[in-house]
Amino acid sequence: MSRMSSHLPRHVAVIMDGNGRWAKARLLPRAQGHRKGLESLHEIVEAAAELGVEALTVFAFSSENWRRPEREVRLLMELFASGLEKWTPQLVDAGVRIRIVGDRSRFSESLLRQIEASETATKAGTAMTLSIAANYGGRWDIVEAAKQLLAQGRPLTEEHLTEALSVSDVDLMIRTGGECRLSNFMLWQTSYAEIFFSDKLWPDFDREALKEALTWYTQRERRFGRTSEQLSHTERKTEPKPN
Ligand code: FPP
Repeated sequence: MSRMSSHLPRHVAVIMDGNGRWAKARLLPRAQGHRKGLESLHEIVEAAAELGVEALTVFAFSSENWRRPEREVRLLMELFASGLEKWTPQLVDAGVRIRIVGDRSRFSESLLRQIEASETATKAGTAMTLSIAANYGGRWDIVEAAKQLLAQGRPLTEEHLTEALSVSDVDLMIRTGGECRLSNFMLWQTSYAEIFFSDKLWPDFDREALKEALTWYTQRERRFGRTSEQLSHTERKTEPKPN
């Protein structure tokens, strides 16, 4: 293995930010920004699967997004349900397995039914796993994982907690929209992630932009706590354990 991370990230996570600003710049309602954002999501999922990314996790709705105006929350939920329904057959054809991660307790019955239908229909997909984080928060995920371990009587160790979380460790995190923060997305899982901040607004983030982020990732040196010299002198068959 070379010093540079010459391979593709196995797990890419995306904070899709900037739909509202994209719409505002065009004097359009925010809803149009979200609709265009959904189109970008389709393009990025297709491109990521084709490029060989194994897992893609996107932040569609945070635990904090309920604070938005009721109309916008309703629109996002409708887009989510109708988007899943229309999209599922294409995901099946592309071999993409879909999972929804997050607290489902506030979702409507019809959205829950659609989520289950899409998860079941795409279950056999092996090309890529797409996790859509909805009503998700990084702190919530950690607390839920800890509660699960306690209920099972398993010791609270880093390894067990990592296994109990709803999504696995991330290699590359992308955030669009120009802000440089994690906004309570996968906090534990990004401990050793490379983080790519893009000024592009999410509806403008296309296949080329994804390729740019992946190329940037391949040029990073992932040391996992070691020195550059150690990496260049050690023939590593596997990645060292983070330390
Ligand atoms: C952030 O833009 C985006 C969201 C809060 C929602 C993400 C939703 C989509 C990409 C489309 C819908 C997809 C699903 C699966 C429902 P923002 O509104 O915070 O933008 P701003 O910072 O410019 O206001």
